[in-house]
Amino acid sequence: MLEPTDESAIDEALAVLRRGGLVGLPTETVYGLGADARNSDAVRAIFRTKGRPENHPLIVHIGRPEAIDEFAIDVPASARRLADRFWPGPLTLVLWRATDVPDAVTGGLDTIALRIPDHPVALELLRRFDGGVAAPSANRFGKVSPTTAEHVRDDLGDDVDIVLDGGPCSVGLESTILDLTSAVPTILRAGAISAEAIEALIGVPVERIATGPSRAPGMLKSHYAPRAKVVLVDEAERFPVARAEVARGKKVAVLVRSATHDEVRQLELGTDPRDAGRALYAALRAADAEGIDVLVASLPTGDGIEAAIADRLRRAAG
Ligand code: TXA
Ligand code: MG
Repeated sequence: MLEPTDESAIDEALAVLRRGGLVGLPTETVYGLGADARNSDAVRAIFRTKGRPENHPLIVHIGRPEAIDEFAIDVPASARRLADRFWPGPLTLVLWRATDVPDAVTGGLDTIALRIPDHPVALELLRRFDGGVAAPSANRFGKVSPTTAEHVRDDLGDDVDIVLDGGPCSVGLESTILDLTSAVPTILRAGAISAEAIEALIGVPVERIATGPSRAPGMLKSHYAPRAKVVLVDEAERFPVARAEVARGKKVAVLVRSATHDEVRQLELGTDPRDAGRALYAALRAADAEGIDVLVASLPTGDGIEAAIADRLRRAAG
């Protein structure tokens, strides 16, 4: 099921999409669980497989910027400029949807989320498919998103028809979601493309929503959650809190940017934001694999990747 990404694997994945099956596909953010966005039955299979509520809309992945107009109408100039600058890349644009897009994709909303992912395997698949691929992250609903093909196989097993192995994701955190249908452009989910970078390009302030409407499942308070209990404290409190948990007989780890000498188990993300973003989900999975009961962490400050890490940790903590 796990295929090397040679031509024949992409041929096979195309055949799977065309017959309404499910493809695990690598992107630069996280692995997606993809289906033909024009095929309602195939899209419904995504929701069944993930155990995801059907009113939670999906992102449609496209291979070329011109395909925006196959899925969206009344596209503002700012969307074209953002697509020009940031696509392929970790930015999802919410636009007014074209009427012929299946309701299954958008959960009946009159808007649609679109992006071109920056991964050679995804791009080749999307360009050859020449349509849209609806794809949420390829994990069971509420769990940590997969950043390797192996994670997808571990989570979904044979429920996915083929998994293309494109190596570990280079960003490792889900895309920034920018809503361009609201009166003020609004970031619905933080990601590697920062609010500042978006503002600099479109020349107007954007709103940063931390706890937005539940029409976005990434906006649920508890999400991206490992089995371990995630405890958020001030940076200086991490080791004292960890030791107190150890004293209570818990198996404890501290999430750190750079490890220091200490008795307490540490999971290191790296000081560079890009390294840390890439490492976060693997660290949450490692905590579970080790049987960690309590994972102690503090929230980074900053825009872009740091904001995305803080957001995912908050949700992991519930
Ligand atoms: O990086 C990513 O975005 C990854 C990769 C696979 O592309 N995908 C991803 O999909 O994270 P998912 O389904 O886990 O999260 C999609 C988010 C959800 O929060 C969903 O509610 C939001 O996009 N979304 C989709 N359509 C929307 C719409 N029309 N309006 C507002 N939010 C929307
Ligand atoms: Mg997800």
